[in-house]
Amino acid sequence: MTEYTLITGATSGIGYALAVEFAKRGQALLLASRNLPKMRAVQKALQAKYKIPVIPVPSDLSKPDAPQKLYNYCRKNKLSIVTLVNNSGFGLTARPQVDQNWAECERLFQVNLHAVLQLSTLFGRDMKKRRRGYILNVASTAAFQPMPYAALYGASKAFVLALSEAMHIELQDYGVGVTALCPGITDTNFFKNGKPTVPGWLYKLVSPELVARRAVKALYQKKIYIVPYFQHWLIAQFSRFGTRKTIARIMRRIEKMRKKIRFL
Ligand SMILES: NC(=O)c1ccc[n+]([C@@H]2O[C@H](COP(=O)([O-])OP(=O)(O)OC[C@H]3O[C@@H](n4cnc5c(N)ncnc54)[C@H](OP(=O)(O)O)[C@@H]3O)[C@@H](O)[C@H]2O)c1
Repeated sequence: MTEYTLITGATSGIGYALAVEFAKRGQALLLASRNLPKMRAVQKALQAKYKIPVIPVPSDLSKPDAPQKLYNYCRKNKLSIVTLVNNSGFGLTARPQVDQNWAECERLFQVNLHAVLQLSTLFGRDMKKRRRGYILNVASTAAFQPMPYAALYGASKAFVLALSEAMHIELQDYGVGVTALCPGITDTNFFKNGKPTVPGWLYKLVSPELVARRAVKALYQKKIYIVPYFQHWLIAQFSRFGTRKTIARIMRRIEKMRKKIRFL
């Protein structure tokens, strides 16, 4: 069986930067997301530059059966997944949860939670049997406190962080590393409605390349989680210093400020 690194959502942003980092290390790549032409472009570029095998697999992770299909594809084609990167994810337009579109909520639920859970379970089980492997789950600094007006997105990332930390402990004695990647704001297509314009001294927009470089290093060091930029890590710590209600209220105030200093 050939060994592969499976990355969901490597067509842009953090996922693409992670694909480059693994390619630099000579790893064969399996890319899974919706946009086949974009995956083919990534395949062509990485194969030419790094001389590694790259296989694109069209997969819409908002479909409930997509993770199982992806796993079956790997079994059928005898592709052994030595590293799994659950990166695909998106956010919704900022508004109160009760005003969100339900179909969009379900799509987010499937991509940000269900797919991460099922892929980690299926591939993690094989890694445990082989007593070797790595799982990198992309959470966010949004995981550290409630996010009024981005309630579901924040909750989805809190889920990813808690799941990854628990699996880290469950699998550490089997030689399997599980790391939660918690980036702060990163310069990608995530911000479809305009890039954040917060002053850098307050909250710096970092590059996906920096995030990917530090994430892969942390993964191989078998860290339980990483916030790849010190200033983002520092801000993420504030939730430790207040009651849960106070922190939720502060986040609501920050959300109101965001309307003035376009942020999400
Ligand atoms: N940018 C930030 O500030 C930031 C901060 C913290 C965490 N994150 C997290 O980082 C991860 C990557 O986001 P990004 O910032 O790099 O944004 P991005 O450039 O928009 O990338 C999102 C990726 O997710 C894939 N994707 C979206 N819906 C999908 C679906 N239904 N099925 C399969 N793949 C899907 C997309 O691929 P296709 O379009 O080809 O399907 C794309 O490659 C996300 O989990 C996000 O929540 C981002």
